[in-house]
Amino acid sequence: MIDEHPPLTVLLAAPRGFCAGVERAIRAVEDALARTGRPVYVRHEIVHNNRVVDNLRRKGAVFVDDIAQIPDGAVAIFSAHGVSRAVENEAASRGLSVLDATCPLVRRVHLEGQRHARAGREVIVIGHRGHVEIEGTTGQIDGTVHVIESVAEALALPVSNPERIAYITQTTLSVDDTREIIAALKSRFPSIQGPDVKTICYATQNRQMAVRVIARRAERIIVCGARNSSNTNRLCEVAANEGRPSLLMQDLKDLTLSFIDGAAVIGLTAGASAPEDLVQEALAQLARWRRLTVEEVRVTHEDAQFAPVDLSRLVDQLAN
Ligand code: F3S
Repeated sequence: MIDEHPPLTVLLAAPRGFCAGVERAIRAVEDALARTGRPVYVRHEIVHNNRVVDNLRRKGAVFVDDIAQIPDGAVAIFSAHGVSRAVENEAASRGLSVLDATCPLVRRVHLEGQRHARAGREVIVIGHRGHVEIEGTTGQIDGTVHVIESVAEALALPVSNPERIAYITQTTLSVDDTREIIAALKSRFPSIQGPDVKTICYATQNRQMAVRVIARRAERIIVCGARNSSNTNRLCEVAANEGRPSLLMQDLKDLTLSFIDGAAVIGLTAGASAPEDLVQEALAQLARWRRLTVEEVRVTHEDAQFAPVDLSRLVDQLAN
């Protein structure tokens, strides 16, 4: 029911929602289900979103936390977050038919880390301990690897040789926080090797830039996405850094009338693993409560596309 409150303007962030790596990973599972005609086992959530996972589960995908849960010889898909070398080796030794949906930008970070290790450098990984991407990345690097999450850890980290170190970053970090951590590392270790924050992936950077722009005009921000999604949580933090409260909307039931109470301008965005359906459901719900004006605020265009995961080897393997 429309109440007597004044109209509500919704600033819709653009870009928002699915990135090229997420689209590629979802398509890999759908294609594998369609072309193999067999059960498909996905290690970990293919992307961090419960709705995406539930949709694929309904189509026949089986999600497991551990590769040991996959039957010998079955089809196994690695998620967009990437896996360690140990997981790759275990899959090979178990005779699993593997489809690797690791995002190419995560793979690039793996290669960069391994390049530094081969050059004899200790590798500092800036990222969130326990996040599945970090488990995969650290497990792809031979040699000494440290994970740090903060400036304080950067300043306290013991290293063997300050002249032989490098850093890499998780793809979905806060651009601002990472810049500070890199600055701290560079102040301590002037000869450290590493990229600038641009190895935080394009989708993460663009979504953070867009939410910052709308947060400067909106009183509160709704962020669609899953609670375990790193890039989604970072969008809430960017809003907080602009002094704006945010609501993380995993499902429509999270959206409450009280959150928009008294507000004239609300921002709306979605993490890189959140489907556009969620955004549209939020808009429809807001329109049931208030008369809406929707303004899309686009900060940049994205044209990134990755080649689909190649299924031909898997299909041949299963045919023989
Ligand atoms: Fe890849 Fe970045 Fe998406 S690393 S999966 S393009 S959030």
